[in-house]
Amino acid sequence: MKRPALVLVAGVLGALALAVVLHAPQSSSSAFAAAVDGKEVFSANCSGCHGDKGQGAPNVAPPLAKNSYVTGDPKNVIHTVLSGLNGPLKVNGKPWGEGMMPAWKGSLSNAQIAAVITYIRSSWGNKASGVTEKQVASTK
Ligand code: HEC
Repeated sequence: MKRPALVLVAGVLGALALAVVLHAPQSSSSAFAAAVDGKEVFSANCSGCHGDKGQGAPNVAPPLAKNSYVTGDPKNVIHTVLSGLNGPLKVNGKPWGEGMMPAWKGSLSNAQIAAVITYIRSSWGNKASGVTEKQVASTK
């Protein structure tokens, strides 16, 4: 009598484990994507220089709001955020000044960089397409 019960329990556990394994890749990747909030990444890493509304600050960091570079070719924006920027800069064709932005490659994940760029391209009046983790991974 004991054996069949054990076999049954083992069978049920096995089926459960299989269901979890089969289900895991899908549910964990969508949970991860939802966990990366571009606004949070911005508040934690960027707003100190660029301002919480992307307004920028003189001699600290240029505005990202209503900035045609930010809403332009996403490849350029990804490159700038990955590699940093240092030197005289024009914003919307007008000299902004000089400053230094650190490179974010390595300190932020590709998913976080994609989320924060999607956020700055679609906030404060900016209206441009989002950026995927894959696009970040394939940009140097
Ligand atoms: C330490 C201050 C600082 C922090 C933190 C910072 N930036 Fe910057 N950022 C700058 C400066 C300064 C420039 C301009 C550099 C120059 O003049 O060459 C810049 C430039 C940029 C540009 C290019 C703007 C243009 O018109 O070419 C983008 C995009 C940008 N930052 C996004 C971000 C994002 C996203 C974050 C957060 C992950 C961030 N920055 C964090 C200081 C900062």
